[in-house]
Amino acid sequence: MNERRNFLKTTLLVASGLAVAGTALGKGKNKDKLTTFPGIIYTTNDPGMWDGKAGSHAPEITVNGKKVTVVTHHVMSEPHYIVRHTLVTPKGKVLGSKTFYPGKDDKAISEYEIQDNISGKLYATSFCNKHDFWVTEFNI
Ligand SMILES: [Fe+2]
Repeated sequence: MNERRNFLKTTLLVASGLAVAGTALGKGKNKDKLTTFPGIIYTTNDPGMWDGKAGSHAPEITVNGKKVTVVTHHVMSEPHYIVRHTLVTPKGKVLGSKTFYPGKDDKAISEYEIQDNISGKLYATSFCNKHDFWVTEFNI
C-alpha cells in the first residue's frame, strides 16, 4: 500500500512539475523531447531508458469534440499495471484523473469532458508501476 501511495504522490508531483516548467517539451528538432525532466518523464519520441516501451506506455488520445479519451495499451495485472491517468493544462490545472486498480480495472482507459472555455494544448499522463511516468501532448 505504501508503494501505491508513493506512485500517486510521484504522479501528482510530476504533474505539478509540468505546470512549474510551463512547456516541458523542447523546440525545433527537439520538439518532442522533454528537456525539463530528462530521465523522469518519457514520451513516444523520448522514451529514454525505456526504449521500445512507448507503444504500451505513452497515453493514446482520442478527441471527439470536447470529449477526450485516454488509453494506455498496457497489461493490468497485479504485478504490472497502469496506476493513474491525469489530464493537465500547460499551467498545471488538473482537468481530471483516474486511478486504476489491478483486479478491478482490466484496461487503462479514462474519459474526460472538457469545458467549452478550455482549448489548445493539453497533456495526458500515464504512470506505470514499473516503467515510470509518460506524457502525451495534444490539442483540443
Ligand atoms: Fe509497464
